[in-house]
Amino acid sequence: MNLALHVWRQPSANVKGQMVRYDARDISPDMSFLEMLDVVNEQLTAAGQMPIAFDHDCREGICGSCGMMINGVAHGPMNGTATCQLHMRSFKDGATIYIEPWRSRAFPVVKDLVVHRGALDRIIAAGGFISAPTGSAQDANTIPIPKQNADGAMDAAACIGCGACVAACPNGSASLFTAAKISHLGLLPQGQPERDRRALRMVAQMDAEGFGHCTLYGECQDACPKEISIDTIARMNQDYIRATLAARDEKAVAGTG
Ligand code: SF4
Ligand code: FES
Repeated sequence: MNLALHVWRQPSANVKGQMVRYDARDISPDMSFLEMLDVVNEQLTAAGQMPIAFDHDCREGICGSCGMMINGVAHGPMNGTATCQLHMRSFKDGATIYIEPWRSRAFPVVKDLVVHRGALDRIIAAGGFISAPTGSAQDANTIPIPKQNADGAMDAAACIGCGACVAACPNGSASLFTAAKISHLGLLPQGQPERDRRALRMVAQMDAEGFGHCTLYGECQDACPKEISIDTIARMNQDYIRATLAARDEKAVAGTG
């Protein structure tokens, strides 16, 4: 396959970037999108030019680091697929492909296609943990968990923290990410002691990081490579409202509210 690439090049965070055209020649349709970029980078390096910087690690849809906008779509044209698992056979021979970094004020560009996603780490640090000593794995059925809750927790735990939901959202909201992290702990018995605090702190951190609010566009769940449902946002909102009311009642009882 031969492709015309238009790639966002930006040497560093404080330098203005621009789209630069490259020809990608003799690309196998069986290559992943990142392997195609590897080939282009080998050619650039051989020509003495700076290779295109892009983030990646596992290359198997687990680590969440490989996100980029491909023809304006987070992770490209295939639903439920991270950029590293997107194959070039998803494009037509001779296609023109526009490649840009995540677009979000909360994700500053580091270089070319690499953005800083530390804001998501800080949301996790605000409450995405449990303090119960869980020890080694329990025998099956020692703690009965309703199937619906186990399934919901497992689905939410699939979030790889890639940030595609933020990049796809017209509001730049991190609600799907935050809701996934709140849900995956909040649905399990081990996650109950901090459930209210977790919702309050993680939502507060999300706001402090400058992410926008959720107005239910639904673009996030369409962009999510793990197909996490927008239902998790409803669950986060329920937890947040309940925790806010409980905190208000506690203050009233203590005479400080
Ligand atoms: S919710 Fe989906 S799109 Fe958002 S960070 Fe998690 S895996 Fe990525
Ligand atoms: S490189 Fe890890 S999810 Fe793509």
